[in-house]
Amino acid sequence: MSNKMWGGRFQSAPDQVMEAINASIDFDKRLYAQDITASQAHARMLAATGILPPDDVDRIVEGLQAIRGEIEAGTFTFSTALEDIHMNVESRLTEMIGPAAGRLHTARSRNDQVATDFRLYVRDTLDRMDEALKGLQLALLDKAEAHADAVMPGFTHLQSAQPVTFGHHLMAYVEMIGRDRGRVQDARKRMNESPLGAAALAGTSFPIDRRMTAEALGFDGPMANSLDAVSDRDFVLETLSAFSILAVHLSRFAEEIVIWSSAQFRFVKLSDAWTTGSSIMPQKRNPDAAELIRAKTGRIMGALTSLTIVLKGLPLAYSKDMQEDKEPAFDAIDAAELAVAAMTGMVKDMEPVRERLAAAAGAGFSTATDLADWLVRELKMPFREAHHVTGRIVGLADGKGCELAELSLQEMQGIEPRITEAVFGVLSVENSVKSRTSEGGTSPENVRAAVRAWRERLG
Ligand code: ARG
Repeated sequence: MSNKMWGGRFQSAPDQVMEAINASIDFDKRLYAQDITASQAHARMLAATGILPPDDVDRIVEGLQAIRGEIEAGTFTFSTALEDIHMNVESRLTEMIGPAAGRLHTARSRNDQVATDFRLYVRDTLDRMDEALKGLQLALLDKAEAHADAVMPGFTHLQSAQPVTFGHHLMAYVEMIGRDRGRVQDARKRMNESPLGAAALAGTSFPIDRRMTAEALGFDGPMANSLDAVSDRDFVLETLSAFSILAVHLSRFAEEIVIWSSAQFRFVKLSDAWTTGSSIMPQKRNPDAAELIRAKTGRIMGALTSLTIVLKGLPLAYSKDMQEDKEPAFDAIDAAELAVAAMTGMVKDMEPVRERLAAAAGAGFSTATDLADWLVRELKMPFREAHHVTGRIVGLADGKGCELAELSLQEMQGIEPRITEAVFGVLSVENSVKSRTSEGGTSPENVRAAVRAWRERLG
């Protein structure tokens, strides 16, 4: 039997493999709610403009609502022969209300239909993501506030650089996530235009009211060009780009958590809820959630790459290639949402081991810059010279196998005679972080102020 939606000029049914490659119902059934909402808005507009009789439209709208109920109750039977969510719904509507169902597709095509459904879906995703990221920021703020003064090593090249605070380190991620939210909000603003009414590609001769459907669906207005409306998926690319950058941020943090929770570092303790054991090694507490967050980046960036490639050579307007937009996007959206949820949960439960952090903060002559700064400030030494003198003092300590503060005043004076007892005041990690009061610096006061400012911003 040829297709009951478009089979008029066909004598026989598609090959089984044709059906398999053509059907999208297995994944686009995810769009059912958006599809039904958009169809109801379209139908109501067709009544309001006098294109369809109000009686038919009432039955269409009610029928669609019943179908929504069936899908949500799990009693709806999806058919591969009906290709996609659009034809599955319309076919069921025909079973339910008879020939009036056939009027729903007036002045519409699956091309503007799918573009509309997908936009609505991505818009919901962006809204959910923005909220979820706010939740992650709040979790980070709580931890940062509680540990605003917990000293830890700050690294460059993963070598001891200068002491920082745990709170300051977490606040760095609050900033990154803040920009991720900005990108998510931006993408939403740009994508919030309605393709509905572009029809197949050229618009329609029916006197439709695109503003009415746009408004009913919460869009800012209709898209201006019908060819553009049905053929671009840049809103998905933009979403996946924003999610890719977010995933990079999450992945870097996840990598740090993996390192921090190792027995060698022991900077943080992860809770039972966010670790797993080993089937052979009884001592293990593996940071699987962090590892998987790190790995999800691959899927998300992969989706961006695959959809970019699908689109890059497509002539206008719609080509069936575009059906390949959904699977990678859905997969990436799921991965990103899961990664954010897992990161939020892990951060909430994560406990820094403050004494370990403090001990590590002093290792590797991390206050050498403070010593050089002291020479500049107290002895009016040019910084380059101070750097050199400090280097020699570090070399001395390194040779003796001790920390800077463990050198005697005489030993330091052997290198620079004008050094006084007061130098020891700048060699502790606590004083080092306290002194970093420049805007954006790591001092506990700065961290507390940043937390307050962010709390105000987040409302
Ligand atoms: N399932 C299709 C998709 O996702 C819907 C649009 C099909 N349009 C068409 N003319 N074949 O892209």
